[in-house]
Amino acid sequence: MKLVVFETKSEIAKLLSTIIIETVKKNPKLVLGLATGSSPMETYDLLVKDYQKNHTDWSQVTTFNLDEYVGLTPEHKKSYRYFMNEQLFNKINIEKENTHVPNGLGNVTANAQAYEKLLVEKGPINLQILGIGTNGHIAFNEPGTFGDTKTHVVSLTKTTIEANKRFFSSAKDVPIKAITMGIDTILQAQAIILIADGKNKAQAIYELVHGKITPDYPCTYLQAHDNVMIIVDVAAAALLKPPVIKPKN
Ligand code: F6R
Repeated sequence: MKLVVFETKSEIAKLLSTIIIETVKKNPKLVLGLATGSSPMETYDLLVKDYQKNHTDWSQVTTFNLDEYVGLTPEHKKSYRYFMNEQLFNKINIEKENTHVPNGLGNVTANAQAYEKLLVEKGPINLQILGIGTNGHIAFNEPGTFGDTKTHVVSLTKTTIEANKRFFSSAKDVPIKAITMGIDTILQAQAIILIADGKNKAQAIYELVHGKITPDYPCTYLQAHDNVMIIVDVAAAALLKPPVIKPKN
C-alpha cells in the first residue's frame, strides 16, 4: 500500500484528479470505477474544469459506479445515478451508455448479478476510486461482509444511515437497502485509490493500514491487493503509526 498524507482535502482532490486525467490520456479506453459521497466531489469538479479548459477526451472511457440505493429512480435527486450525472457525466464528453450504475429498481438480486456479468464482460476495471465509511465500509460493504462477495444487495447499517442522512431531509428518508459491488468485485480492479478526509475517518484508516484482515472492517481486505494507494488528509491520518510520509510541496 502506498500512503500519501496532505494537510488539506483540496490537495487530495488535486492529486487524484491529476492521476485520473493522466490515466485517461494514456489510455483513452480506460475502464474507471467511481464512487459517490462527499469525498470525491471536489475531484469531479476538477475533472470538469480540466475538461472545459483542456478538453481531455472522455469519449471512449467506460465507468462503473460502486453502488446505488434500492428504490430510487435514476431521476431521483438523491440517487447515485443522478449524483454522477450532475457532478460529472453531464459536464464532460463521456457517452452516457458507457456509464454504468447499478439498477436499484425491480428485481435487485437479478440486477446485481447482471451488473457483475457486465463488469466481467467490459472489465477489468483499470482504476477504481474508493471512499471509506466511518465504520470501515468500502462501497456499501458493511461490517460483517466477507472478502469473497460479488455485487449484491445489502441492508445499510444504522451508522451508514446516520452518516448519509445529511444528503436527505432526515434519517427516515435514507433508503435502508442498496446494491453494491462486493469486496471481491472491487479487488478485481487493477489499481485502487482510496481517499478520505476528516477525523471521523481516522479509526477506519487506522484499521485499513494497521488492522488485521477482518470482515469487521471490510476495508482491511484491500491489504490483499498489490496496487492500492491511499490519499488522506492529516485528520484522517491522525491515528496512524509513524513514520507517516508527507509529500513535499
Ligand atoms: C459511495 C460509497 C461509500 C462512500 C463512503 C464515504 O459510492 O461507496 O462507500 O465512499 O460512505 O462517504 P463520504 O465520502 O460521503 O464520506
